[in-house]
Amino acid sequence: MKEGLLIVLAYLIGSIPTAVWVSKAFFGIDIREYGSGNAGATNTFRVLGSKWGTFVMAIDMLKGVVATSLYILLPHYLGADNELDRTNLMVGLGLASVLGHIFPIWADFRGGKGVATLFGMIMAIQPKVAVCCVGVFLLVLYLTRFVSLSSILASVAFAVLILVIFNEKELVYRGFALAVALMVVLTHQKNITRLLRGSESKVPILKYRDR
Ligand code: G3P
Repeated sequence: MKEGLLIVLAYLIGSIPTAVWVSKAFFGIDIREYGSGNAGATNTFRVLGSKWGTFVMAIDMLKGVVATSLYILLPHYLGADNELDRTNLMVGLGLASVLGHIFPIWADFRGGKGVATLFGMIMAIQPKVAVCCVGVFLLVLYLTRFVSLSSILASVAFAVLILVIFNEKELVYRGFALAVALMVVLTHQKNITRLLRGSESKVPILKYRDR
């Protein structure tokens, strides 16, 4: 019961539509009508510039970290004996926040693609793997300048790291790894189409004012 309430709370935290609220509050526009139409950090960089893009990215990551860490509110998950239960709960909380980010109750269920919030979640659960994924992300970004491709390959790298390199035996980690890769591929379908057609935009970046 208490776990269920925490899952709902995690979803509500993930639902905070940072990019939408920033664009409306400070620029009087809805970010979803500009650029790629995505309510995420990349599109905020693209449309509103690096300062706001960084801000949105930080808050969206923080949502994942905070939601995944909500288990600390239930003291019986804190002991070392409960590691598996705790991991199960953390994965449930994190995924609820990512679903909130993608389908936010506070913004007509039209949110972002989940990458920054997923990253925050992975930081809270598997920090070493998260650092490796950042490495993959930055390398692909350096080589191609496509944020979408970098996100997709970092999520695939996450699955490979968990399933093959670290060879995690716990079912919850194996399921989580596959869920992350699948979720990122699914939320990036339009990007994949644009990448294949050669029409995906690279960083940087036009501000909406410059159009
Ligand atoms: O995290 C989202 C990013 O991978 C792609 O965003 O705005 O280029 O569709 P965007």
